[in-house]
This record gives sequence, C-alpha cells and structure tokens, in this order.
Amino acid sequence: MSFKVRKLGSALGAEVIGLDLTQTLDGDTIAALLAAWSEHLILLFRDQSLTPTQQIAFSRYFGELDDHAAIPKFRHAEHPEILMVNNREAATNKRLSVGRQWHSDLSTTLRPAKGSLLHAIQLPMVGGDTMFCNMYRAWDGLSPLLQEWLSGRDAIHDMTIARETQLQRTHAELEEIRLRNPRVYQPICRIHEATGKKALYVSEMTTSQIDGLTREESQPILEYLYRQSTVHENVYRHVWRKGDSVLWDNRCVMHIALADYDDSERRTMHRTTLKGSPSGRLVQAA
Ligand code: OGA
Ligand code: MN
Repeated sequence: MSFKVRKLGSALGAEVIGLDLTQTLDGDTIAALLAAWSEHLILLFRDQSLTPTQQIAFSRYFGELDDHAAIPKFRHAEHPEILMVNNREAATNKRLSVGRQWHSDLSTTLRPAKGSLLHAIQLPMVGGDTMFCNMYRAWDGLSPLLQEWLSGRDAIHDMTIARETQLQRTHAELEEIRLRNPRVYQPICRIHEATGKKALYVSEMTTSQIDGLTREESQPILEYLYRQSTVHENVYRHVWRKGDSVLWDNRCVMHIALADYDDSERRTMHRTTLKGSPSGRLVQAA
C-alpha cells in the first residue's frame, strides 16, 4: 500500500493521504509510516471511521498499548485500550475538561506515553480545536549557555498542579490524588530514543519546580521555557473534522485542548495511548 504525505505546518504535522486504516498494512508501509512520524511528529489521517477494535489494531503498528489502568473511570467499557476523551460524563452529563493546559501525556508517571492517537467521533458545530508544538525546536532555540545549564537537570512533575484539577478538587481530594500519583523527576532535556534528537520536556500543566531551585526561583525560568515552546511559529492548530485520526509523539510534542466551543454540545473522542519506555524517578517525600 502506498500513501502521500502533505505537510500541515512549518513547525510540525503532516497529513497522510491514501491509507485506509481499517486495512492490514504491509511491512514497507509500516516502515514508511514510522519514518513519516519521526520526521513530522504528528500525523493526520482524514475520513477514517474506526471501530474501537480497528483503532486498537492500527495503533499497535506503532507500539504496545496502555490499558489505562490509572484512569479506569474513563476507559471504554469493553476495550480498556480506548480512553474516552469526552466533554460530558456519559451517565450524568456532568461537564468534564481535559488537557486545557499545554502538556505531554503521562509525564507525571515513570512511564510517560510514547504517543497518543485521538480519533474524532462527535464534534461541536465549531471549535474544539487542539494545538500542538514542536519540543525539538523549543530546545534548539535556546542559547547554548542555557542549554548547558539545563542539560542533565531534572524537573518535578506533579499531577495535582494542573489548573483544572486545582479549581475542581477539594484540598482533601488533591491530597488523595497525590498519594496515588507521587511526584516524579523527569529530565528537562530528553533524548528521543528513535531520532537521537534533544527535546525540551517541561510543561505548564505538570511541571512544578526545577530540581535544586525553590519553586519561586524555578517559576520565571519555567515560564520562559513554556513561552519559548509555544510561540506561534512553533505551533500547529488542528481544526477537527469527524473521522480525523491524529497521532502525536509525546516525547517531542506538547498539546493543549482548547475551550473554544459551546460546551452544551458534545465532543467525543477515542484515544489509544502508546506505552513509553521508563523515564524519571520518584521524588522521595521529605
Ligand atoms: C488527550 C488530550 C486533547 C483534546 O487526549 O490527551 O489532551 O483536544 N486531548 O481532546
Ligand atoms: Mn493529553
């Protein structure tokens, strides 16, 4: 099977044209897809209509899948490899908001996700866009002196600092989340296993502090790194169409879900998550 690749943005992203994701792919096609993924960081497949089983089968070409045991509440009832990314809780219609700050999936764990594939099932009339940024370029754009200072240094990732979590949870709930999800150190500069390239790996949703600095000292440096990562020229904004599948590489991409739509409408996405290699270490409680 052959396909064409069309760039979507100057910083990252490409559309793969001519593939039907429900078909079995041969070795050459898989190798070509992996090469395109390495080059473009995110791949878009349009006009796909995937059942959970088909999405799972396609995602497995890129690696082993997570069963989302850490977030059982949002798993698909029959297919634990599918995470339901919805703006409303199915049973109660309660509003849910996920990913409203820049982040990389599962960076607060010792096995951050390698990649994620999001398939659009149901969309609002307008909006519900997702933005992506290129973290190789974020790193490459820093001055050599700052790169040198950040190299080999770790930052703390903490699931409870996310703005939405802080707003929606009580103090006791936050404590409970932290107990179940202890904070981890992750390298500020990550070397990508497949490409060998360096990528900046800090995010506003999860990074609380640079190891060795106080929170107050860390904040202005982190703020600068977030700004540097998400300058307009480093971002691709995806305007979803029903049937789109977008695969991104969490090792060198951050993403953010925008609240740019009428939340009384439903937005339903199915995510598969590719397991990453071990990264980071636990922060020992003082
Ligand atoms: C995710 C996520 C973004 C979106 O599924 O990991 O952050 O736009 N989703 O739904
Ligand atoms: Mn996410």
